[in-house]
Formats: sequence, C-alpha cells, structure tokens
Amino acid sequence: MTDRVIIFDTTLRDGEQSPGASMNVAEKMRLAVQLEKLGVDVIEAGFPAASDGDHDAVLQIAGKLKQSEVAGLARTSKNDIDRAWDAIRHAAKPRIHTFIATSDIHLDYKLKMSRDEVLQSTVDAVKYAKSFTDNVEFSAEDGSRSDRDFLSKVFEAAIEAGATTVNLPDTVGYAIPEEFSELVKYIKNHTPNIHKAALSVHCHNDLGLATANTLAAINAGARQAEVTINGIGERAGNTSLEEVVMALHTRSNFLSVSSGINTKHIYPTSRLVSMITGIIVQPNKAVVGANAFAHEAGIHQDGMLKNPMTYEIMKPETIGLSANKLVLGKHSGRHALRSHLNTMGYDLSDEELNIVFAKFKEVADKKKTIVDEDLEVIVTEKILRTADIFALEYLHVTSGTTVLPMASVKLNINGRSVKGAGYGNGPIDATYNTIAKLTGTTSELLRFSVGALTSGTDAQGEVTVRLRENGLVALGKGADPDIITAGAKAYINGLNRLEYLKANPVQEAAGL
Ligand code: KIV
Ligand code: ZN
Repeated sequence: MTDRVIIFDTTLRDGEQSPGASMNVAEKMRLAVQLEKLGVDVIEAGFPAASDGDHDAVLQIAGKLKQSEVAGLARTSKNDIDRAWDAIRHAAKPRIHTFIATSDIHLDYKLKMSRDEVLQSTVDAVKYAKSFTDNVEFSAEDGSRSDRDFLSKVFEAAIEAGATTVNLPDTVGYAIPEEFSELVKYIKNHTPNIHKAALSVHCHNDLGLATANTLAAINAGARQAEVTINGIGERAGNTSLEEVVMALHTRSNFLSVSSGINTKHIYPTSRLVSMITGIIVQPNKAVVGANAFAHEAGIHQDGMLKNPMTYEIMKPETIGLSANKLVLGKHSGRHALRSHLNTMGYDLSDEELNIVFAKFKEVADKKKTIVDEDLEVIVTEKILRTADIFALEYLHVTSGTTVLPMASVKLNINGRSVKGAGYGNGPIDATYNTIAKLTGTTSELLRFSVGALTSGTDAQGEVTVRLRENGLVALGKGADPDIITAGAKAYINGLNRLEYLKANPVQEAAGL
C-alpha cells in the first residue's frame, strides 16, 4: 500500500456551500492558483451543472492549472456529466467526479429509487464518464449510513465500470472514528477489486469529528482525503486540510503516511479563503486560528523561553506564519512590496502591483506601519474584487451627540457615477440607507460585526455583514482605518455577492 495520501481539496465546491460563502469567478481563480501552489493533488473546482457561474469558473480554472488535477462534480445523469466534462475538458489533468446516494434513507425519501436502480445508475454514469476521461471518481453519498454489503457492491460495480477512485462520504457527519475505521476496513476486505482504485473519504463536521474520522480512515487504509481550507463547508463544514496535513506531518511517527502539501503555504491560503469568503476563522481554530501559537499562561511562557518544545508541537514557520509581522512603512519601495507580497503567496503582475502600490502608499500615509493583514486587505479589495458591480467612490458622514446622522455617498454602478444623501439612526444606518437607495436594493441586514485587523488605535477596522435578499444570503467584508468606511465597503461587498448570486442562480434540484 502506498504511503502517500492524495489531498483532494473541495473548498471551491463543498466549501462554497457554506452559508453565504459565494465566490465570484475571479476569486475562485485566485484561490485555485493558491491551492495549486499549496501542492493540492486534486482541486474540485465546482459543480458545473449547478449554475452557469459554476460552469464558467470550472472552465477557467481547468484552462489555467498545470500541476493539480481539476475535478468537476456531477450527479449520475448524462446531462450533469456532459456539463462537468465540458467545463474540465481543457484541464491538463481532468477528473470527473460523479455521485449518487446509497443509504436507504436517501433512496426511499430523496431519490425514490431501489437499490438495483442505484447500482445501475452508478455503472451507467461511471461508464459514460469514462468515455471522456480515464480519471473517474465515484462517491456513494451518505456512505457511512448505508448498508455495508450494498456499499461494497456499489463500489465493486463502480470499479468494474472504470472508476479509478471510490469515495466514502460521511455526508451528515454521523460517524465515530472507531466505527468509520471499521467501515473502511470492511470495504477493503469485502470489495474484491478495491486494489484497482484509490479509496477516498469525505467527512463532514457535524459532531466535530471530521478530522478524527479522516485520520482514522487513513490509518485503516484510505489513501485520499477530501478536505477544505479552514474546514469551511455545508452546515458545520468539512474536514479541514490544515488539520489533516499537519497531523500527518507532526505525527508521522504514528501515522507513517505523508502528503505532498507544501506546509509553508498553509497560513497564507487560510487567510486568503477567509478574506475571499468573509468567513472568519475562530481564534481557537487548530493550526490556523489567531491563538493557535499564542501562549498566555505564565508557566507556558516560561517553558517556551527555556525550550519551545515544552509547549509547542508545531513551529509557526512550518505553516508559513512569519514570526515578525512588522513589515513595511511609507518609505518602502515597490521592490520591497513585491518581495513581501511574494512571501505571502501573492504573485502579482506589474499592472496589479502598481494598483496595490498606490493603495499601499495611501494607507501608509494614515498608518505608521503596514503589516500582513493590511496588505491582504489591499490585495483582496483592489485585485480580487475587480468584477464588482457596485464600488464606493466617496463617503462623507456627519454624526455626533447633537446632529442628525447623515451620509453623502458617491457610488460607481456598472461604470456610472451616482450620488445621494440620507439620514439614519446612526452613521452606519445613514450610510446603509443611502447605499440601498442608490443601488435600488432591498436586502435585510442579518448580522453586523466589527473587529480590528491588528492591535493599536490606528489599526484598520474590519467589518463583516450578512445580508439577505429574496431568499439569497451573502456575506460581505470590508476593512479601512475608518470604521464607517469599512462598514460601507462590507455592505457593498455583500451587495455585490448578492448580485452575483442573482445572476448565477443555483438549480433548485442541484442542491446536495
Ligand atoms: O458530502 C457529500 O456526500 C458530498 C458528495 C458529493 C461527495 O459532498
Ligand atoms: Zn460533502
């Protein structure tokens, strides 16, 4: 058995199913490039039959990546497989990933199909996918709650039909590590042709066991792990890439298998996903949380000074977290900026660098020192969000104890400047009312949270909003040394995401 685990990243597909976490095509492309740099073996770029936006994103990503395999998800229908192939056909290493549920609950209530029909559908889909590419993955949705014998029968048939990977999902995050490990062993022992395919696992985190289940499965012989950055995904999320990879890295003495991930890119990738999706990483999140390497207790700090091995099982540098975050000031030049951005994982074109440099100078005039978090915001807002419909051109707000809060706003809407003014309960209310009026949008503000990117009173404020309009939900994020401006940017970012969702409706039936 090989001692290498294939890392299959589904941040762009299952991760994007996190509530509110839609990404536009430019953002998806940027993330895909970063995932390739991270050394991910397979990137599931999307579900092309779900929406035109998904199809286009997968098509563009497939045309760009050279090292990583690019997978497109498809149900077992010919139409889905055609869409998936159409989107990935230009990939250097394409993979069709087709799936159907195998548990009786799903068969009886969702699919209304018999086991024989599901078996036939599996064989037909894999054979059809195989007519396009040799690289076909089959997933048995809700595998962990399926009858074991039926599951191995379906896997056997899928492999016989040509599947090169068979995936066992714990779709609803129900499994317990020992049980999941037993299931993997059962499949290995009862599927006669299992040696002809890679056995994969895909876990959800409803009970907080996704990483534990994935590691148990690897220990039992699974050789592909399906994961997402920061563990984002449907409901409580998916197995997180950084946790599995760093467990393999840190506990190689116990697990004795490795991944091809370049761990130095883990932290920049985690930040990128958080910046793009607007999903904040919890401070105590394993590996990439803000407190993951912070030692608060005096006794720990004392031990750390004597020997870091007393309390630190991983070095921050291993995941690309630089110890010295103080980086640039207003006298720093273009060259220093480029080389620092490179260390953060950003490879910008000359034109992009010029845009970032101009904004960097503007922020550096307001703030003495610029740290990584400031640069991330600049790159995200100036480079990643170029396809936006609404952009803030100007904001002037008056508020205080003796005046009625009022906002004057100038927006760029699809290349056209519009301006207006409005009142509100406070400066944010006034700003949001005015922006809503100018954009003609009627979204409801579900959440508004404010944080600071770094410490110090000159730190950039970071605002995250959650908006709902006509049943669609989107997150928005914005940062600025001025907190009201940060709030305006976050609101506009959320509105842009809602516009993207309106323009790219996900087919009702495509929901997993
Ligand atoms: O959770 C799940 O079962 C899935 C499959 C499509 C692999 O995401
Ligand atoms: Zn899933």
